[in-house]
Amino acid sequence: MTRKSFFDMIHRMKLVVANWKMNPETEGEAVELAREEDLEGVVLIPPLSFLAPVGEVLENAELGAQDVFYEEEGAYTGEVSPIELQSLGVKYVLVGHSERRAMGETDEIVNKKVLAALKEGLTVILCVGERERRTMTYDDDNDTRMMTDDSDNDTDTGVHLREAKVFVKKQLERALDDVALRQVVQTPKSFQTRGAQGISDNEPRLIVAYEPVWAISTRSHGVSDTPEDAAEMITHIKDVFKDIGHRTKDIRVLYGGSVNASDVRGFLAKEEIDGVLVGAASLDAGEFQKIVEIAQNY
Ligand code: PGA
Repeated sequence: MTRKSFFDMIHRMKLVVANWKMNPETEGEAVELAREEDLEGVVLIPPLSFLAPVGEVLENAELGAQDVFYEEEGAYTGEVSPIELQSLGVKYVLVGHSERRAMGETDEIVNKKVLAALKEGLTVILCVGERERRTMTYDDDNDTRMMTDDSDNDTDTGVHLREAKVFVKKQLERALDDVALRQVVQTPKSFQTRGAQGISDNEPRLIVAYEPVWAISTRSHGVSDTPEDAAEMITHIKDVFKDIGHRTKDIRVLYGGSVNASDVRGFLAKEEIDGVLVGAASLDAGEFQKIVEIAQNY
């Protein structure tokens, strides 16, 4: 499949991105997982160590990386450059995932990574999202996270969502500082000379994943965002792009909180939500297959 037809295909349907994080343990398991699934239209993001073998077995899916460094080459032990990723067949890269931000990645670093990845022709999946929406406490007996709004007033939720919107807007503005519209919508020459076949000049090189941080890894904590609030935030993110002059209709915004085969439909049914970034559920071949099938039907 040419790059262009992949793009056309994912534009007709909701995009599913699988972030395997630091899983599975062995190359054999990674390859088996990538082979087991019908991954048409999916962006698959294995750990760095398994990019090459997974890339070799992917057919209708695209390969992504979980992070990238902002320098082209040099004495940066442990880092990987955009060009090195491209040489492994990587087309997409997550930048600013909340788990990396929690390990010290600042807005400034995120911005440098966005600029470097776009310059080299990778498509950036930029992660943004507030750490907390409402006050959370842990119920030690049940190991669940409880919402403890200190007010009975329904409008309180609205206040917290408004605060989150202000935070997310700032994160976006900082991440996109100095990112010109042309970098997002045009294929850089450097990428063309590296031989990418059939790439569309109109393909936006930026996707946003809205990750409410309090609603990820919910397999163990049990709190999810609602499709309604997620859609409202995603509309807000699209409005921010409108304000800064980007062609918002082209920039897809995914929901990056936890989803599974039972609740993903609620998110995908929302017109504003252009797809999902799936973590834990993408490691279960059967469950992930169901998510992909549901997405393919929108
Ligand atoms: P999760 O991860 O599906 O495991 O919660 C989602 C994410 O990291 O965006």
